[in-house]
Amino acid sequence: MNESKPTDSVAYDYAAAIFAAVGGLLFGYDTGVISGALLFIKKQFALSVFHEELVVSVVLAGAAVAALTGGRLSDRLGRRATLLLTSALFITGALICALAPSATVLIAGRVIVGLGIGLASTTVPVYISEISPARSRGWLVSLFQLAITLGILGAYVVDYSFSGSQGWRWMLGLAVVPGLLLGIGMLVMPETPRWLAQHHRSDQALRVLEKIRGGRGVAEEFAQIEATLAAAEEHGRLSDLFSPAVRPALVIGIGLAMFQQITGINTVIYYAPTIIRSSGIPTASGAILATAGIGLVNVIMTVVSMWLIDRVGRRPLLLAGTGGMVVTLGALGLLFRTQLHGGSLAMFAVVILMAYVASFAIGLGPIFWLLISEIYPLKIRGGAEGVAAGTNWCFNFLVSLTFLSLIQSVGPSDSFWLYGLLSVAAWFFCYALVPETKGRTLEEIEASWRATTRASVAR
Ligand code: BGC
Repeated sequence: MNESKPTDSVAYDYAAAIFAAVGGLLFGYDTGVISGALLFIKKQFALSVFHEELVVSVVLAGAAVAALTGGRLSDRLGRRATLLLTSALFITGALICALAPSATVLIAGRVIVGLGIGLASTTVPVYISEISPARSRGWLVSLFQLAITLGILGAYVVDYSFSGSQGWRWMLGLAVVPGLLLGIGMLVMPETPRWLAQHHRSDQALRVLEKIRGGRGVAEEFAQIEATLAAAEEHGRLSDLFSPAVRPALVIGIGLAMFQQITGINTVIYYAPTIIRSSGIPTASGAILATAGIGLVNVIMTVVSMWLIDRVGRRPLLLAGTGGMVVTLGALGLLFRTQLHGGSLAMFAVVILMAYVASFAIGLGPIFWLLISEIYPLKIRGGAEGVAAGTNWCFNFLVSLTFLSLIQSVGPSDSFWLYGLLSVAAWFFCYALVPETKGRTLEEIEASWRATTRASVAR
């Protein structure tokens, strides 16, 4: 029988979550690193504007495709096998980019990296969610968002360090290291007990549960998983997504995915130096330093959110964070209308941008990825999470593509007010539809959707 002490098992569970979260590090790093590398790539391959746009955006397009299709892959192959595939894609993509003899090969490498990011975004949150105990699932899944923010910050630092030597190959190639870490981690970590139970591997599922819970409450948890599977009406098909018991969760996932992007976070993450320079910081290095400061705020406030998420719950943080985004975007729009210019305009802009990113990091940032790993029934969890993640990538692509033209056509003030208005809509959406999932097991959440559907059918 089980001999592991509870403390060992907690450590094992945390280790599995941390290894999987490395997928987030690659997500953040690979989306963040290109802004600094692009300058030198452009020079080396004499890129046209079209090719330049391709180098940047094929990652987002690849991620969208992989997220939309990859969720079903994790339902079929398993979470762990999909993460092993993800690691292989990251390593291959990074090597191709680093060694690329031409722009075409580089673009092919970026597509492969994009596929890896998409698979990571559908699989990592689900993997962590399914191995975590209900009481700490919030902060454990949010390790994924923390890793994204650390990846973005790491990318700024690496770009800065290699810019002197124009070392764009190193910038892109260094992603091999976390890629390897993810692969090695997943080789030694287990498949999730929930996926195993669903695929009729009860003995293995029990063994993994024993190991990650140290024997505590294992029989109850296993019985709850089996009972939920028996009660499930889904068959693991795409059409299940539209069944009455899943539809509300589908709407929430897609809505949150859209709002996480159309409220403008990546205009700041990808274009912060441009925004800051346009507000009056004279030197590029000053703008980069301010950008690194914003990246640091993103990391710190994600940690704060993780500390609060299992204590105060998802809804209060989501509403407070989105409210903060409304206020800060309003203030930013106002700032660009004032007569301020030069140093003082730039200083205010940086402070408000930091407050905006802090609001995102407390709420919509981590909580989107957390909720989409919690709210779907086990039988279609991967596929449904993939639809939400894929939607997120499509809107990310759209906003990144249109931001500069938007600023050019209506100016920064109206642009930020537009994102502010969309944040107001996001707030009402969260207020009206998002459920509280704090402290409930995945099985309890699944049962509550079914109960609601039955009640509305009976009415
Ligand atoms: C979003 C990314 C964004 C990042 C910033 C993530 O939750 O999905 O698009 O770049 O947060 O921290």
